[in-house]
Amino acid sequence: MKKDTSILVVDDEKSMCTFLDTVLSLKGYNVTSVMSGKDALDLIKNGFPCSVIVLDIMMPEIDGLETLRKIREDLKSEIPVIMLSALGKAGTVVKAMKLGASDYVTKPFEDEELELAISNVLEKKRLVEEVRELKEKLEQERKREECFIGISGNLNDIKKIIEQIADTDVTVLIQGESGVGKEVVARAIYVNSLRRDKPFVKVNCAAIPGELLESELFGYERGAFTGAIASKPGRFGIAHGGMILLDEIGEMSPALQAKILQVLQDGTFTRLGGRNETQVDVRILASTNKDLEKAVSDKTFREDLFYRLNVVNIDIQPLRERKEDIPLFCEHFLERYNKRYNRRVDAISKKLMKSLIAYSWPGNVRELENTIKKLVILEDENHILSELTPSLNHNVPKKTEDDSSQSVHTPNIPLKHLSKRAVLEVEKEMIQKALKQTNWNRKKAAEQLGISYKALLYKMKKIKQEAE
Ligand SMILES: Nc1ncnc2c1ncn2[C@@H]1O[C@H](COP(=O)(O)OP(=O)(O)OP(=O)(O)O)[C@@H](O)[C@H]1O
Ligand SMILES: [Mg+2]
Repeated sequence: MKKDTSILVVDDEKSMCTFLDTVLSLKGYNVTSVMSGKDALDLIKNGFPCSVIVLDIMMPEIDGLETLRKIREDLKSEIPVIMLSALGKAGTVVKAMKLGASDYVTKPFEDEELELAISNVLEKKRLVEEVRELKEKLEQERKREECFIGISGNLNDIKKIIEQIADTDVTVLIQGESGVGKEVVARAIYVNSLRRDKPFVKVNCAAIPGELLESELFGYERGAFTGAIASKPGRFGIAHGGMILLDEIGEMSPALQAKILQVLQDGTFTRLGGRNETQVDVRILASTNKDLEKAVSDKTFREDLFYRLNVVNIDIQPLRERKEDIPLFCEHFLERYNKRYNRRVDAISKKLMKSLIAYSWPGNVRELENTIKKLVILEDENHILSELTPSLNHNVPKKTEDDSSQSVHTPNIPLKHLSKRAVLEVEKEMIQKALKQTNWNRKKAAEQLGISYKALLYKMKKIKQEAE
């Protein structure tokens, strides 16, 4: 067990590295030591598979605290870190713990002290991973329960496409705003395909830092870089026989785009550090909320890859353009969450349904789902109504030819009122933009606009009154 546990020791003192290497190797750990924060960061950046990092605080150039900050913030790594601190540096230890250190040991220390810290940290990591795995399994179960529904013309067309292409092996590019149901469509293709008993692997290309994405997708060979003590298959390897969904493909670097193109062309790729090509049988689905055609013309996305991916294109409309789906989704989510939370919210009142249909749903179906979930949990329609009402998009009356709000036609409105109205118009536009960008999170929108939350609510109310 310990043989598989690799520990990275970072200390600028050679004697300390040698000491820790000897002590920990004797205990059966696999130890790699480096003498600077920079070397440690390089290893981690390249996907060094270590279980625990033992990090000295006092080091020249990048000290332990800065190294730790970079590990957590820049590299987004969650590898547990045990800090080695000098006696009487309580303040530094507190800082380290705040930055995300798992534990600390004060120099000079007994071997047992460090070993205990390591085994505690490993046990905690094991439990965290177990919980995460269980959660993922539960999520997978839930996803399996999820079906693709909809009555709008757009979704009916998509259903037909899915039926036609599910049991072929063509590549599909699924496009649409965030929350419209791209993943639901990808899973519907999978469940209706002949590959449904093989793995379905989803990789979010935007969530994994660029350097790690390649090893995540294609894996690496043993010895590909210092610390690669065992080979790793990569997501393409895991998906063999099944399907892979490359989510947010628009965020992929050009170098990786070339590798994906090769897999699409002949089903082969080379693992990091590998000499031989690996052959896989994987059907590729890709999704994006970016305008890929524009990315092609901006030269940030390879044209040849775009055409390879875009054999079949599924474009899901935003929910605001297919409002006839709203009542069906409401019913569907009511049933799901009543069951999940053991509630009995039976039907939605006419008044609430009117607001749900009028609302513009910038977060699309996901936002609608969350709203219904909230309704089921809180069992309070008024709360939902008050959240939907400040929606600015639908309450603004359309301007007509003789609309008196147009300044050119309103010579008898005092200038003072006109400028007030102009300010209001500009504010309305800025507020709408901020709300959209923050996915209708009013707190965040207020922050973005540099005003207080209260001030934002007040302004939204005023804009609404003005529009009525
Ligand atoms: N046609 C549909 N039928 C059933 N549920 C749907 C449908 N469309 C969307 N949903 C629900 O809406 C939520 C968001 O869908 P999904 O995760 O597929 O969106 P997405 O387009 O992949 O979003 P993102 O771009 O943020 O990844 C999911 O919880 C899903 O259950
Ligand atoms: Mg998605």
